[in-house]
Amino acid sequence: MKKTLILRVDREKPDEERIGLAAEIIRRGGLVAFPTETVYGLGADALNPHAVREIYLVKKRPLDNPIIVHVADKSDVYRLAKNVPKQAEMLMDFFWPGPLTLVLEASDIVPRITTGGLSTVAIRMPKHKVALALIKASGTPVAAPSANLAGKPSPTMVEHVIQDLYGRIDAILDAGPTRIGVESTVLDLTGEVPQILRPGGITYEDLKRVLGRVSIHPSALAKSKIYVKHARSPGMKYRHYAPKAEVILVEGETDLIVEKIRELAKQYVKAGKKVGILATDENVGKYEVGAVKSLGSRKDLSTAAKNLFRLLREFDEEKVDLIIAEGLPQKGLGLAIMNRLRKAAGYNIITVG
Ligand code: TXA
Ligand code: MG
Repeated sequence: MKKTLILRVDREKPDEERIGLAAEIIRRGGLVAFPTETVYGLGADALNPHAVREIYLVKKRPLDNPIIVHVADKSDVYRLAKNVPKQAEMLMDFFWPGPLTLVLEASDIVPRITTGGLSTVAIRMPKHKVALALIKASGTPVAAPSANLAGKPSPTMVEHVIQDLYGRIDAILDAGPTRIGVESTVLDLTGEVPQILRPGGITYEDLKRVLGRVSIHPSALAKSKIYVKHARSPGMKYRHYAPKAEVILVEGETDLIVEKIRELAKQYVKAGKKVGILATDENVGKYEVGAVKSLGSRKDLSTAAKNLFRLLREFDEEKVDLIIAEGLPQKGLGLAIMNRLRKAAGYNIITVG
């Protein structure tokens, strides 16, 4: 087991010495978990193939699932990408720093292990003072997937990182819970029309306003597993965000969702199962059996996004056998939330109404 250093830093005024210590670890090829505005990331020098290899090993991540490269300066994009289209520049001006990841043709300096063997590279500039300070002090772009074991819900609190990775990585920068709670939007700019590969913190509506034309990859919307021959985003292929418990997602009209969940919960409890219900404020009082947790109001999707992964992990800690989740509207952040819930459910979805 490794000795994992936990470095507490202020999210607004990160201590320079501690950031320096973490940056030194990155420069030497080590692994540092750090907060971003979306979720915690597990960082390594993106240009050092040995360091990036360690990320895959520690996370138990399949080697063909590429890793996002984080930058603190737009000029780095011109080193990491072969060509930077006008649209990319426009999006960077509009949304960076922020939860938008751009997929571009990779330049020769990017190791193939970082891109999971693809010819493209995914780049983003996080909107978090600790992340930006770490990248700057490291003097190199930082490759970072979410700092969880592969397949588990992403970490929105330092406790989640500790649960999954303590003793396996060199250091953790702790700056408290993350603000957004779902990961960045991954947007592919290598095709004719910009395409959302993974919905996230920057919404489809936001992108449409700036780009005019933007498509969504069918697998990001799919209610059932669709066969993708050459996955544009290899992450699409794997089961994700999955707590240990089985998850059933109920979608449709709200009153009917509640009715269905009441019925299912009773049925499973009768069969001796420990049932968790992932509900919303409007409906928490309507369930008679099961451990009920609320994501927040149905009208406040940013709060729901922030709570999602934490609540999935809480159900696991309480050792429920089954989580039944209310579906949410798919507008704004709802698209990202529903994408994560569908994957957590392994496409175990019931549509009512
Ligand atoms: O908010 C986030 O994006 C967080 C924080 C830490 O920045 N990071 C994150 O990384 O969620 P990860 O590795 O958990 O998810 C990255 C996603 C995966 O679905 C991966 O397949 C996709 O981005 N991706 C990475 N590089 C790609 C590329 N070159 N082409 C297509 N998809 C790519
Ligand atoms: Mg991840």
